[in-house]
Amino acid sequence: MSFLDYAPAPESTSILHLKDSYGLFIDGTFVAGHGTPFASISPATEQHIAEIASASAADVDTAVAAARKAYEKTWSKLSGSDRGKYLFRIARLIQERARELAVAETLDNGKPIKESRDVDVPLVAAWFFYYAGWADKLDHAGLGANPRALGVAAQIIPWNFPLLMLAWKIAPALAAGNTVVLKPAETTSLTALLFAEIVQQAELPDGVVNIVTGAGETGAALVRHPDVNKVAFTGSTAVGREIAKAVAGTGKKVTLELGGKAANIVFDDAPIDQAIEGIVNGIFFNQGHVCCAGSRLLVQENIHEEVVDRLKTRLATLRLGDPLDKNTDIGAINSREQLDRIRELSDIGEAEGAERWTAPCVIPENGFWFAPTIFDNVSTSSRIAREEIFGPVLSVLTFRTPAEAIAKANNTPYGLSAGIWSDKGSKILAVADKLRAGVIWANTFNRFDPASPFGGYKESGYGREGGRQGLAAYLTTAAAAESASVRTSGYSRARKQAETRTLAAGEGEGK
Ligand code: NAI
Ligand code: MG
Repeated sequence: MSFLDYAPAPESTSILHLKDSYGLFIDGTFVAGHGTPFASISPATEQHIAEIASASAADVDTAVAAARKAYEKTWSKLSGSDRGKYLFRIARLIQERARELAVAETLDNGKPIKESRDVDVPLVAAWFFYYAGWADKLDHAGLGANPRALGVAAQIIPWNFPLLMLAWKIAPALAAGNTVVLKPAETTSLTALLFAEIVQQAELPDGVVNIVTGAGETGAALVRHPDVNKVAFTGSTAVGREIAKAVAGTGKKVTLELGGKAANIVFDDAPIDQAIEGIVNGIFFNQGHVCCAGSRLLVQENIHEEVVDRLKTRLATLRLGDPLDKNTDIGAINSREQLDRIRELSDIGEAEGAERWTAPCVIPENGFWFAPTIFDNVSTSSRIAREEIFGPVLSVLTFRTPAEAIAKANNTPYGLSAGIWSDKGSKILAVADKLRAGVIWANTFNRFDPASPFGGYKESGYGREGGRQGLAAYLTTAAAAESASVRTSGYSRARKQAETRTLAAGEGEGK
């Protein structure tokens, strides 16, 4: 399609010094796991990267005991400013090792190096810097006087932003004075293990951070462990539901960050060039493996044809292939399972009568790939309009009036994010006010900032990560207890929605 051929521009992997096999990180050292080890592979080549230990229930127990001991003997005894110093140290080490972390993330996850280098890793450092600053200011977080840590936090994260999700979980937990046991996703353990090395380098007291690798069973053992005070989960709604059941009645505090099916609403008065870039960034960033992805395009009927035509032209210029190549826009799908799921839902979309269009690109022979795809004329009841596909697939729907746009946008079991494109500030505010989503972007999409709270409604989960609101999940205060008891009241819902809304101005992430 393109008139210019790009020369390959691969990022060198020589900066990475990986071990052949990795143990569990418990009480400050790497130890053997007692489950069956598994391989981490590159989703772009299916090549073996390293062998990863699997934590048995007994290993999880050892890790929780280490976290408990560290909580009681060292971490809870430190002043906030001393905790902050450790977090600042971790943040600086992340910056120093940024290139290595970006290469490892891209190798293990399949995301383009330009994203891991320019988005993931800088945000990881930003998250630690931000929460380092809170460690000695917890009294001023607006959560009431003398907030106290909860104790041991069990944290389970997914594979789409492995290191970034680790930062979202670990930084606020430690700043608030908790110790943690974190389980990365089974397809993307590598950067969590490099992070364990950084924890050693920062000379964090032993047991404050523990990393247990393994699959769902390891996660389930961690969630059910009786000595855990807090469970934080990001992943599928199905597993989120299981976790909510498992902890019900135990007194463990829970936050769940689940899926989404965000509406990206484009009005006919929108700046179209920016909107096209924003739609692309909204759903094709990170191969669409994004919980807040703008997977449903709601476009005003009179500009529908123009927008879809221009989108196709733009998508034909995206480069799919080697994630380590600096020119790559679309990397590999993270796993065969995820690829199968994307294929299945896309086939269902076609069978349901939507019009399928696939960007012209050459699919590499090995690895897991899915070309950018648009489904036009999707009906609101179609499964591809309702279910999270979690891949590079956009469903296009139309609307005539703002009221219709709002009704269609809210017609979803989820409520994580939304986007609005319009030249009129007053229209943006009026529409944003009626959307039931935790994060709303205006004339931009997929912008993240550690100071800005993030989280959902309905099946997208509960609790907020980021900002001072994100500290509440790791502290006990009178205010937190009150807000938990009125969580379902309409007043508190509306107030929280107003508080957590992000109205970012400016252009979409240049991609
Ligand atoms: P998943 O929810 O099974 O995995 C997420 C994490 O939970 C992983 O670390 C996994 O090992 C762990 N886990 C699995 N079962 C568990 C259990 N019973 N108890 C405790 N931990 C458990 O997600 P999966 O299977 O990788 O993806 C399926 C779908 O979920 C995707 O297609 C996507 O739609 C959605 N998803 C959403 C994410 C988000 O960021 N909201 C992230 C990942 C997946
Ligand atoms: Mg699963």
